[in-house]
Amino acid sequence: MAEITSSVTQLHYSSEPKVNATIYHNASYAASDDEIPTVDYFLLFSDNPVQRFLALENLRQACEEYGFFYLVNHTIPDEVLDSILKGFSDFFDPKTIDERKVFNKSDPSDKIRWGLNSSAGENREYLKVVAHPQFHAPSNPSGLSKILEEYHKAMRKIAAGLARAVSKTLGFEENYIEKEFNLKLGFDVMAMNLYPPSSRSKGAIGIPEHTDPGFVISLVQDVDGGLQILSHQGKWIKAYIPHHAILIQLGDHLEVLTNGKYKSHIHRVIVNNNKVPRISVVTLHGPALDKFISPGTEFVHEEPQKYHGMTYRESLEANGCDQIDVQSSLDKLR
Ligand code: SIN
Ligand code: FE2
Repeated sequence: MAEITSSVTQLHYSSEPKVNATIYHNASYAASDDEIPTVDYFLLFSDNPVQRFLALENLRQACEEYGFFYLVNHTIPDEVLDSILKGFSDFFDPKTIDERKVFNKSDPSDKIRWGLNSSAGENREYLKVVAHPQFHAPSNPSGLSKILEEYHKAMRKIAAGLARAVSKTLGFEENYIEKEFNLKLGFDVMAMNLYPPSSRSKGAIGIPEHTDPGFVISLVQDVDGGLQILSHQGKWIKAYIPHHAILIQLGDHLEVLTNGKYKSHIHRVIVNNNKVPRISVVTLHGPALDKFISPGTEFVHEEPQKYHGMTYRESLEANGCDQIDVQSSLDKLR
């Protein structure tokens, strides 16, 4: 991809609120060191204009000053979160590893892929699936596919709600991001990860530093410990995700669209002091594969254009990823 000016960064890669949810108060969330903000999903759509205004302002600040936040009062029932995490804890049972090996594929057209890495560079077992526009999941064990699909549908609604709210925080109509990314045909990939307990690999890298492509990335986990995010100030922040909350991180393509106003952040997983394995379920909510993504004209008035435009598919391919292996690293992107 040719640079369009020397200052342009080459980015190759770079709802319904839950009424019966417990109402959380930001102040009660003492994250590791209080450095990860909390956004209340319910209040983003409140009928009370003052509440809504304050919640949107909180979201704007979280996007602009952090790029990641805990989402509470979302629409996903606790039982759905518990069942997805338990489902994958059972799925990753060491006794059934041979059954998972059938998904150990490298054909780019495979929409379900399993892997096991235990080396200095990465220590995790994972299952990745393309979840949208078509949903894919292993048919064995029976039942897992259904709960994964139910969870993904619920998470997509939240991502759509966030697209509306984030659009407003940027000063646009609420359908701005939906339109710019064509989210109805959005390309979603889910990664279910198991990180070993500390007895096996304490201090080892679970997953190396990277950012993720797309609009936003949602993450739920069973036990704390391991995920670290690099702040604007260059400090690693440990994510202690409140029970049943969702960690949201901004994706690389929101950074491109906003010409760097809302940035994605480098993160990594260190195998921590856990006595038990840690499970995370990560969903990358992406634009439609054929959607051309470039900085919005509204963002290149005062600042020069910092990123090249390309389709989402091209940006994934340019980063050496096939369509399911979509993780990227800022080093490669720029
Ligand atoms: C990821 O960044 O893709 C995974 C993070 C985690 O499992 O905590
Ligand atoms: Fe990631």
